[in-house]
Amino acid sequence: MISKCMFPVAGYGTRFLPATKSMPKEMLPIVNKPLVQYGVEEAIEAGMTTCAMVTGRGKRAITDHFDISYELEHQISGTSKEGYLDSIRNVLDKGIFTMVRQREMKGLGHAILTGETLIGSEPFGVVLSDDLCINEGPGVLAQMAELYNQFRCSIVAIMEVPMEEVHKYGVIAGESLKDGIYRVDKMVEKPSADEAPSNLAIIGRYILTPDIFDIIRETPPGANGEVQITDALQIQADRGCVMAYKFKGRRFDCGSVPGFVEATNHMYENHYLKES
Ligand code: UTP
Repeated sequence: MISKCMFPVAGYGTRFLPATKSMPKEMLPIVNKPLVQYGVEEAIEAGMTTCAMVTGRGKRAITDHFDISYELEHQISGTSKEGYLDSIRNVLDKGIFTMVRQREMKGLGHAILTGETLIGSEPFGVVLSDDLCINEGPGVLAQMAELYNQFRCSIVAIMEVPMEEVHKYGVIAGESLKDGIYRVDKMVEKPSADEAPSNLAIIGRYILTPDIFDIIRETPPGANGEVQITDALQIQADRGCVMAYKFKGRRFDCGSVPGFVEATNHMYENHYLKES
């Protein structure tokens, strides 16, 4: 059973400036819920109730979000507005939240290594909360946790993307074991369409085995001068220990403005209006 999930939330969110100048990108709401809360709910649903946040300067709103607001509780307890607190109270009841700060933004691999102290030596999930994933059945992390019990190695969530978009992603190639499950032998970070080994792109959901930390320590900076998790995963893939999983569900790229707007419209029409 995987009980911990890491949330690297230290990035600058430059594509959302000026909104993200003094506000974390992960706190931008899709309708009325911050992006990061969707990710936390997905992790808790998968049994990963310890949420390890790798934060940075200017990200205190995230820490505060996952704590009690005494004033708010005091003001609206017993009033007709109390129901508005239900969803976050539910998360706070079930989750444990731990934090560490990444002092320099040296890439996702570096962020994950910074979170080592919150994880220790056990397998763990990773959620990049700017990828919002929804599914009618079990969430993407829950699907991956089940797969982990079968394979006991690192797992990356993948989806097919048009060839002209592969340059935005880490891309895999591998042997198809059964429907939607691949044993990965090659991973390339942000390849051009010519260099890409396939159109199977990694999205922001991972399950990692803890040997990844020692591998990242030895991984030099790669694409964009950042320590790339894809480069570290390639070492595990060389050992036959990385699976890729074509998840069931839909993913919105909320790290980009068009994806964010698409997610907002979808959640408003398909969830908010139906539930309110
Ligand atoms: P992105 O590159 O998509 O996020 O990193 P960003 O840097 O915040 O966005 P832009 O490009 O400037 O708009 C993917 C994820 O990894 C985290 C980010 O917070 C995001 O969730 N990350 C990235 C870190 O935590 N630390 C880093 O050094 C880099």
